[in-house]
Amino acid sequence: MSEPTTAPSAPTAPLPTLEPVTPGWTLPASYYLDERVHAAELATVFTDTWLFAGHACEVAEPGQYLLFEIGDDSVIVVRDADGVLHAHHNVCRHRGSRICDEPRGRVRALMCPYHQWTYGLDGRLRGARLMGEGFAKDGVRLGAVAVRELAGLVFVSLADAPPSFDAMAAAVTAQLGHHRLDRARVAHRASYSVRANWKTLVENNRECYHCRSNHPEFLESNFEFGSHGDPRRNDTYDDTLAAAYARWRADGLEPADVSFPGDEGFRVSRLPLRDGFVTETMDGAPVAPPMGQVGGSPGSLRLITLPTMWAHANLDYAMTTRLTPVGADRTDVDVCFLVDADASDDDVDLERLTTVWTATSEQDWALCEANAAGIRSRGYLPGPLSPVVEASVQHFVDWYLRRLTGSRTPRTSATSA
Ligand code: FES
Ligand SMILES: [Fe+2]
Repeated sequence: MSEPTTAPSAPTAPLPTLEPVTPGWTLPASYYLDERVHAAELATVFTDTWLFAGHACEVAEPGQYLLFEIGDDSVIVVRDADGVLHAHHNVCRHRGSRICDEPRGRVRALMCPYHQWTYGLDGRLRGARLMGEGFAKDGVRLGAVAVRELAGLVFVSLADAPPSFDAMAAAVTAQLGHHRLDRARVAHRASYSVRANWKTLVENNRECYHCRSNHPEFLESNFEFGSHGDPRRNDTYDDTLAAAYARWRADGLEPADVSFPGDEGFRVSRLPLRDGFVTETMDGAPVAPPMGQVGGSPGSLRLITLPTMWAHANLDYAMTTRLTPVGADRTDVDVCFLVDADASDDDVDLERLTTVWTATSEQDWALCEANAAGIRSRGYLPGPLSPVVEASVQHFVDWYLRRLTGSRTPRTSATSA
């Protein structure tokens, strides 16, 4: 058996004829509803990038693994006995069976349940019974998938030649590294199935236009300013931000607003919380022991990595949200709450820890499902985005269209729809 060690790319779906997009307006309905667009996205937007797979603390010990699934692909992310993190296609090199079924666990080896071919954690075939004397198992290994760790977060790329990870790793580590998510534990996990296209969820995340009337819990601790591309001036907020930056610099937190530099799909920015709030809780008081070395009042570090992940890292806990598109009109969501690895259950007030982000997340999914219901209707037409508070939505749409079309740019219409 001669061995390519990396699985060949999945066949790419042809890009369907795309409806014209009017700059400054929302996308036509087909972008949210057409399964051919969804298939094309899987082959482009979700392949030629780095995707958030999970947390390093979930695969901290030898043999610990998590499954990362998107489209038809399933990836085993596993730590070997030497501490090296691997990602393998979850596809047996015998006849192609899935090997792992459970979303996470701990194993000594990876054994295919079909005919019991057995692989080491590094992906090399260790045993294959009854294959005859001429069978050479040396060199047979699971297809490799690119994997990187970044300040306690794990990313994979399904691309044959993944894009550079360096700019995102450097910028994010400089700020998120202080929170030590690499030595955390998952205190709570919630999964949702949202009847809306994944882009509807990202667009909703990219603006706070909707916050005032929909997110009372979020606005207890947060300002509605500070979003990417929001040009509004507010003297009170500006004074708060300046004082916070001075404090964070003194605490060594290296604060910076790094928002989608070049064509990169990430933003990392530390934002202040309201007076008297040291974390994103209803009363501003911590609900778990401090994480890492972040001083006494680090505000909230916001991270987004397009196309599927955002996170907030606070003094005492972090929240990560991961989107998994499972169809043109359906998105699975995993929301995780992390605390310091040494925090015992008695140290953590789980109800108060989850109040803000459970409420805010569920409010957002309801908003997205209502938005998606309108997009499904024959009454939907693209609408105008606000240049004041939805510039980041426009930025995301532009980023998405470039990824979707590669060199091909959808024809833009001179007239608004
Ligand atoms: S398909 Fe895996 S052992 Fe046969
Ligand atoms: Fe929201």
